[in-house]
Amino acid sequence: MRLPERQLAVLEAASATDERTIDDLAAETGLKPETVTGAAFDLRDEGLVEVSETTVDVATLSDEGREYLDASLPETRLFRAAIDAGAADDPVSMGEVIGRADLAGPEVDIALANFPRKGFGSVDSGELTIDPSVDPDDDPEVMALAALGDDANGDVADIDVDDDVLDRLASRGLVEITERTTRSVTLTDEGVTALMEGVEAAETVGQVTPELIASGEWRDVEFSEYDVTADAPAVGGGRKHVLRRTADRVKDVLVGMGFQEMEGPHADSDFWINDCLFMPQDHPARTHWDRFALDVPRMDDIPEQLIERVESAHRDGYGADGDGYHSPWSEAFAREVALRGHTTSLSMRYLSGYAGAELEPPQRYFSVEKVYRNDTLDPTHLLEFFQIEGWVMAEDLSVRDLMGTFEEFYRQFGITDIRFKPHYNPYTEPSFELFGKHPETGEEIEIGNSGIFREEVTGPLGVDCDVMAWGLALERLAMLTTGAEDIRDLHGTLADIEFLRNAEVSY
Ligand code: PHE
Repeated sequence: MRLPERQLAVLEAASATDERTIDDLAAETGLKPETVTGAAFDLRDEGLVEVSETTVDVATLSDEGREYLDASLPETRLFRAAIDAGAADDPVSMGEVIGRADLAGPEVDIALANFPRKGFGSVDSGELTIDPSVDPDDDPEVMALAALGDDANGDVADIDVDDDVLDRLASRGLVEITERTTRSVTLTDEGVTALMEGVEAAETVGQVTPELIASGEWRDVEFSEYDVTADAPAVGGGRKHVLRRTADRVKDVLVGMGFQEMEGPHADSDFWINDCLFMPQDHPARTHWDRFALDVPRMDDIPEQLIERVESAHRDGYGADGDGYHSPWSEAFAREVALRGHTTSLSMRYLSGYAGAELEPPQRYFSVEKVYRNDTLDPTHLLEFFQIEGWVMAEDLSVRDLMGTFEEFYRQFGITDIRFKPHYNPYTEPSFELFGKHPETGEEIEIGNSGIFREEVTGPLGVDCDVMAWGLALERLAMLTTGAEDIRDLHGTLADIEFLRNAEVSY
């Protein structure tokens, strides 16, 4: 029989009558314990050895335990200081003894709690009395600490320490008790027979090299096998952030549904952000409370005719029976620049034809981009977040088309229970909000807002068919797919690194 060298070494070191531990075999063969373990399992698979496992309790000193091993337990120090202060004859003042014993901070309480418990003496109205017959070195806890300090192996069964004493030391935090699994190897009858018949060492090779192939030597060597089920240290490699991966997946899904991507400025004029959307200039969302205004020059390259048509819709309404807001409208304000509070500004740029060509129906566009709102930070709100903007331009669209699109979109993420609620937007009619059920809390959270653009929006843009549109929250979608309960768990200082390492975009 031929066996790889390491297996042969373990086979020869093993015994048919004694169980030999992996550590013993490692010491004898000079191989690493992990190598011996691997070889032992290979030999077991060939029926040459048996591998048994036992679990033992292992006690190790904590840092505090080790400190007391060197400096003595606080109660022992108190006892000795009391003797020095003459307590063997008369009660002595506790303050004085504590000073002499050099006990710092919590050690005082520890000493005073254990001193009477161990029968070293008593403490009464600030006076300390000792029992002179006590030998503090005869204390089972001290002896146990010493025994554990000497014993690097720590196997509880091997050290002569009472269970109660060990429990007490564990509850004092001086000893930590853990479990250790030990594997032992014994030769089987087949193993013994194989050894008697003679086993030769075969050179093992972990990797095929060009030289092995060219020389033909590969024919004679033994290839080591990989154990793909073996435990291995986890390596936390680089990984795309789960939110970015969700965004990528959203883009893939929408492209798959026939959408094209829009792009445009984060800082934009109020004209594109709000006026085109028939948002009255005195709407609360347009005040400094909600909006991040920028101290930069007004935007001047906006098509004049478009400005006129939008202004007219605001002042007088759109169409024969339209009506306007009858409130002030200022072109200067429309040209002010702010961080966009939604990416519907991009939809306006594209629908007006300003971002590219005039568009003929049918068309589908989307973006997955940052928006900025002067909100209050809380578990479901960030001051900047990603919006999944989208719209479909076609003849005769209805709310059913909109609902169907969302059903199809969210299904790609395993979300099949979205619900709709009627809503109001100045720019869409009808409008509705979308809700999704959080997988952990069961709560329904708002995940989007949508509707069919009003004529007051599409008319001035020069679009004469229907446009259904929406803005969905990417972070909220990620909360549903990852189970994160707080939006701040997804990114920022509160996000847990293990969560980020493992979170999946489920689809
Ligand atoms: N702009 C809306 C928001 O931010 C979303 C939306 C876009 C709603 C388009 C309807 C139509 O909430």
